[in-house]
Amino acid sequence: MTTPIRVAVTGPAGSIGYSLLFRIASGSMLGPDTPIILQLVEIPRAMQALEGVAMELDDGAFDLLAGIELYDNPNDGFKDANICMLVGGMPRGKGMVRADLVEANGPIFTGQGKAINDHAADDVRVMVVGNPCNTNALIAMHSAPDVPNERFTAMTRLDQNRGKALLAKKAGVSVSDISNLAIFGNHSNTMYPHFFDTKINGKLVPDVISDHKWLEEDFISTVQGRGKAIIEARGASSAASAASAAVDHVRSWFTETPKDDFVSMAVPSTGAYGIEEGLIFSYPVRCDGKGSYEIVENLELNDFAIEKLKVTEAQLKEEREIVKHLLK
Ligand code: NAI
Repeated sequence: MTTPIRVAVTGPAGSIGYSLLFRIASGSMLGPDTPIILQLVEIPRAMQALEGVAMELDDGAFDLLAGIELYDNPNDGFKDANICMLVGGMPRGKGMVRADLVEANGPIFTGQGKAINDHAADDVRVMVVGNPCNTNALIAMHSAPDVPNERFTAMTRLDQNRGKALLAKKAGVSVSDISNLAIFGNHSNTMYPHFFDTKINGKLVPDVISDHKWLEEDFISTVQGRGKAIIEARGASSAASAASAAVDHVRSWFTETPKDDFVSMAVPSTGAYGIEEGLIFSYPVRCDGKGSYEIVENLELNDFAIEKLKVTEAQLKEEREIVKHLLK
């Protein structure tokens, strides 16, 4: 039997965890030939609920699930992990603004970054889902000096998926007809879904969707505000779609991206598109199928797009300022 891949997941007793773990165990993330050991990392007071989730995982009788390990601390939880999915965190409470959330969650990610640095496998890959995910990934990356920076990513795949679904509906086509939708920047309401280079059955979106006002205004604001709209409609934040996007993110990372397409991931900026180096910024990337990726740098951005990138970059710099005491 192939050696199992160790997948550590934080926040597994939470809402996203409840969808995510079963998708991972079913093989949706790493394929039908890869056995998996799940290393589930919670806070001590959630351990009882986690026991229940583990019982349900047992009851799923997943062929690929070679082990379930439960931990109440990241040092043990990340030991030898090949993939760390950092989902857990403190949710935004009543009256909290984004800056409060940034401040409240920051310290969690210093501890987790250090634990990854000291205990995870040499080939570890990290994705951060817990919000504010770009800045949390930045903190974790700074806390893990021995792990190459490019191994730290944050999830903007949900934004890409939302954008694709919206374009497909508007154009009356299926989601699989849409390619090349780049999400730039922060996973927040400043994120920019860049539709100018997006294609519908190979044709550029602005040539297919003639309502350019809709593209420049409603499309962008709907993708940016979708998280809030879900909270208003269901009384809780996106969980199943977020879990699905997390599965997509990791699967894409380990799959060769088709030459004529790309996927969106927040990764350490190399300075591409004039963004400050080192910020965790969402870009279109192409993955090589072996766990490496490169930023797609050859999109020709117009002034409209450049302006949007500046706005979201400025917000990431503000967030970084709030947590600068946590960055090494
Ligand atoms: P939830 O509140 O249902 O679950 C969070 C879980 O994290 C809880 O079980 C909690 O005990 C656990 N947790 C808290 N601190 C922890 C720590 N230090 N170590 C390990 N576990 C810890 O929240 P939900 O709905 O599952 O969302 C999780 C995160 O994902 C939130 O920060 C949310 O904002 C974010 N999110 C990100 C999205 C994205 O697109 N990047 C989309 C949707 C949600």
